[in-house]
Amino acid sequence: MRFQTAAIHAGVEKDSAYNSIITPIYQTSTFRFEDVGQTKGYDYTRTANPTRTALEENLAALEGGAGARAVATGMAAINVVLHLFRSGDQILCTNDCYGGTERLLRTYADLYNLQVSYVDMTDLAAVKKALQPNTKVLWIETPSNPLLNVIDIQQLSDIAHAHGAMSVVDNTFLSPYNQKPFQLGADIIVHSTTKYLNGHSDVVGGAIVAKTPDDVQRIHQLVNALGQGQSPFESWLVLRGIKTLVARMRLHEENANTVARFLEAHPRVAKVNYPGLPSHKHHELAKRQQSGFGGMLSFEINGGMDQINRILRATRVFAVAESLGGIESLICHPATMTHASMLPELREKAGITDRVIRLSVGIEDVNDLVEDLETALGF
Ligand SMILES: Cc1ncc(COP(=O)(O)O)c(C=O)c1O
Repeated sequence: MRFQTAAIHAGVEKDSAYNSIITPIYQTSTFRFEDVGQTKGYDYTRTANPTRTALEENLAALEGGAGARAVATGMAAINVVLHLFRSGDQILCTNDCYGGTERLLRTYADLYNLQVSYVDMTDLAAVKKALQPNTKVLWIETPSNPLLNVIDIQQLSDIAHAHGAMSVVDNTFLSPYNQKPFQLGADIIVHSTTKYLNGHSDVVGGAIVAKTPDDVQRIHQLVNALGQGQSPFESWLVLRGIKTLVARMRLHEENANTVARFLEAHPRVAKVNYPGLPSHKHHELAKRQQSGFGGMLSFEINGGMDQINRILRATRVFAVAESLGGIESLICHPATMTHASMLPELREKAGITDRVIRLSVGIEDVNDLVEDLETALGF
């Protein structure tokens, strides 16, 4: 099945009783045994549930992995993958990662002596220099949040493998529609399905997709042991959201491209970070590595916090809110919102200044989006 067909069909047929077109919600905690020691494939929902399995099969098909596990949130996905490592292992992470990722890594560094180092992963020489004998994983988020830096997944995976380490890619920003990390050498993919995969801002969810059956098994054991699996109803909502992923992603990109060009030409805007713009420093890599540029962008204004606050208060279509990837447009100030949990010195080192505003461009009429920003920038 091609991508668009798989998004709609992969994994969904779970109703052998009535052949429903849509996967039923198996809202049950437990399953009756057929005979002593014999089940119909399911015994307890923490371990597995048919609705969740449908979503997991769908996700594995979209990413081209051996299997997937759907979990309660994107942070749960990251949490599970971190359990593959041991005290004393080094994790090398991209320096402008999601603030919650940095917070969790910091917590595990304190609790379990994980060695965590941050590096600018657009600089391959810096990555090689940061490798230590105990480096076990390169943690890649591309495009990065909120600066939209693009990291070369193939090169980084090659560096990781030559070192005996693995590469993990957070593919939340582009979704498998626009980026295929396994084809670029990645070993494990994590998602916040809260974002584009579900796409309707009505669920929090996460997923882990592994390339090899061995890693799927290791992830499965952890999800079960840690009790991280997604509930049947929420799995069903995400599966439903994915059916329109392709249509939504095309509109997100079309609108983001128009908004980025409008902002770039605006005298009050100092800089626009959107990999689809030819002026973006990683535009060529993005064209090569991605099949589209997605719906996220950030920009810096000529002005300070007063002007930022005025813009945030003035938009009517763009809602001031955390999160991203939903059908509605959102505006946020990373330094005080999504990245407030990040240590200030790491934020500064990564270039996430107070002047950065992030947009998640939705799929409304783009004229309304541009007019909204035009009014807000008229301070
Ligand atoms: C890139 C990225 N990864 C992971 C997460 C965490 O996902 P969740 O909020 O579903 O736990 C987020 C949340 O914003 C994110 O932007």
